[in-house]
Amino acid sequence: MSAFEQGRVRPGGDGLANAAAEKLRSMAPAAGAMAYPFLLDGFHLTVSPADGPMSFGRLVLAALCLLAATGAPLLGLACAYWMTKAAPSSFELRARRLAYLSIGAPPLFVLTGVGLGLLHIHISDELIWIAGWLAACLYVLLGSEQERPATSAAIAPPIARWRVTHGVAAAVILLYVAFHLTNHLLGLLGPEVHATVMKLGRTVYRSSVIEPILVALMLFQVAVGVRLAWRWSSGPADAFRVFQIGSGVYLAAFIVTHLNSAFVSARAVHHVDTNWDWASGAPTGLIHDAWSIRLVPHYALGVFFVLAHLVSGLRGVLIAHGMATALANRIWATGLAAAGLIAIAIMSGLCGARI
Ligand code: HEM
Repeated sequence: MSAFEQGRVRPGGDGLANAAAEKLRSMAPAAGAMAYPFLLDGFHLTVSPADGPMSFGRLVLAALCLLAATGAPLLGLACAYWMTKAAPSSFELRARRLAYLSIGAPPLFVLTGVGLGLLHIHISDELIWIAGWLAACLYVLLGSEQERPATSAAIAPPIARWRVTHGVAAAVILLYVAFHLTNHLLGLLGPEVHATVMKLGRTVYRSSVIEPILVALMLFQVAVGVRLAWRWSSGPADAFRVFQIGSGVYLAAFIVTHLNSAFVSARAVHHVDTNWDWASGAPTGLIHDAWSIRLVPHYALGVFFVLAHLVSGLRGVLIAHGMATALANRIWATGLAAAGLIAIAIMSGLCGARI
């Protein structure tokens, strides 16, 4: 029985009060998303040079704030798992999908900031952020209560076809992602090495034939992924499936945000070269800039989740081709650990570390 279900059967408790408390508990992932920008603010205040030299206590506090911000999507992932059951009511399903959406908080907060800038709306992005999540909570809390018919775990044929298409497109996208992430890893050797490799890569992925195909494929992948996530989030799911859906939701938000930042904001509107300086927030850097600090969890989890999502897909393919589940799970866990290390290495380079 999940933590959410246990709260429902407290003996002697007032049924209505318990139901209301349970509904409010289901808003925990949204509360985590609302807290996200303030954790980043906490980090920025703690490392701000205006506050004098960095003491050990401030260093620990800064690390805790950044860790909590980067870990915020994990709350959504854990809640989506706890909220997963076979025949959810309409409210339970809305709450579960809100938990999945909260996993995308880091890219969605970047999109909010960039979007407000593009639209010349001079309102605090944190205000808009809180208002957006409160509106989503109200939608979940006040929506209709009717029981939904149980959904079958079996995947209808049209969805199965989309699933195959999603896998094939992923294999093509992997070619670009492998190059792109290797390019960023080389930032550890210095911006010049990064620039040399990017210049070489651009001759291929920025060509008039490849670039439109790459962008179209990315957007297609987002659309199909959202459709699959919508379908799968309604039924029963084990922890692996929940992770696959959750990492996919993050990626959908990440890809839309990243393409908007690079193509619309930087290249089309501000005519900025999307080079190392742009990615690393030069000259202030990602760590010391109050706005750019949001790019640290955004990029770090983008790298982690794109690799982890691919490894999760690989696990399914291996099992479908007869590999023992225990072995496939070990490969999955090793893949996730490698994804985490690659994300840390890339972020270290972007934040100034050199080898
Ligand atoms: C640390 C993480 C990342 C950073 C710092 C980063 C940075 C960049 C930069 C600087 C560009 C512009 C490239 C250029 O001008 O040639 C770019 C483009 C792009 N990135 Fe990323 N990226 C990251 C992760 C990802 C991930 C995980 C994906 C895929 C899910 C991705 C997909 C793309 C795509 C599709 C483009 C457009 C390529 C083009 O110019 O045609 N990026 N990114």
